[in-house]
Amino acid sequence: MDLKNKHLLDIASLSKEEIEDILNLAENLKEILYRPIPKVPTLRGKLIIHLFYEPSTRTRFSFERASKTLSADTLTFTGKGTSVEKGETLLDTIKNLEAIGADLFVIRHPVAGAPHFIAKYSKVPIVNAGDGTHEHPTQALLDLLTVKEKLGTLSDLKVTIVGDIKHSRVAHSDILAFQKMGSTVWVTGPAQLLPDFKEEDYYKITKNGFKICYNLEKAIKEADVVIALRIQKERHGEALVPSFLEYHEFFGLTPKHLELIKENAILMHPGPINWGIELAYEMEKYPSQVILDQVENGVAIRMAILLKLLTGEKVYESFG
Ligand code: CP
Repeated sequence: MDLKNKHLLDIASLSKEEIEDILNLAENLKEILYRPIPKVPTLRGKLIIHLFYEPSTRTRFSFERASKTLSADTLTFTGKGTSVEKGETLLDTIKNLEAIGADLFVIRHPVAGAPHFIAKYSKVPIVNAGDGTHEHPTQALLDLLTVKEKLGTLSDLKVTIVGDIKHSRVAHSDILAFQKMGSTVWVTGPAQLLPDFKEEDYYKITKNGFKICYNLEKAIKEADVVIALRIQKERHGEALVPSFLEYHEFFGLTPKHLELIKENAILMHPGPINWGIELAYEMEKYPSQVILDQVENGVAIRMAILLKLLTGEKVYESFG
């Protein structure tokens, strides 16, 4: 699959084969990160501009690490201290940074659809690093890579996503990604945080399984993968959860829940974590939680995406 000069905007528009191709390349690239000098010259001379209109630790710094490991030049833009503060539009910012020499933009934006909008006008590839409540495709890809590494397969799994599904771009990308790979996705959480979309909307897209369940215990029973989500307080607009203590009581994952899931099941969280709300503090010690493995895999996935979009590379034997 040739993704050269294309945009990576969402999981919805990636085929299963394209997803597999990105995962395979990321698996091959990972060894570079363990070399004494973790750097290859592949993207020397390319300028990657990271536009982060919203806060980020994992996505922003793993994209920067990925870009630098591939020897690209990087600029990071957060809006502060730029002409955005004087009212410059997103489109004008893009046009001006293209004129400065950008070869690819990575963009995180609070408005759903912002990356899709600029992709219509940009002469260079756009990567969506999270747009409002819509999608976070690179997070879903690193989640897939982590599950593939830990469980050896991405098909016929029961994947349960717990929490603020409605406002979570991670959930929206993960639901599509895991189904595309042939697994069944269950979502659970308080009714007011469950999605507006109908189950059949998601069946139509993927022709696989998707289940909305209001009972945490039933949703996680015999799960292979449990993904806890952060409560997206900043996107609620009004108080949707009466109290976080109450949320924890009914939907926080605690050691007692581990008895319900499969023996080799893994526990994931995209971060940042509200310990004591979506996850009990003790869960940090749970041997099958793979939260930092997800973060580590984020670097390799983002390296693979940058290579695909800028060079169209297929899987390499080795990167010298
Ligand atoms: N998972 C995730 O997107 O984290 P950041 O907001 O820190 O990038």
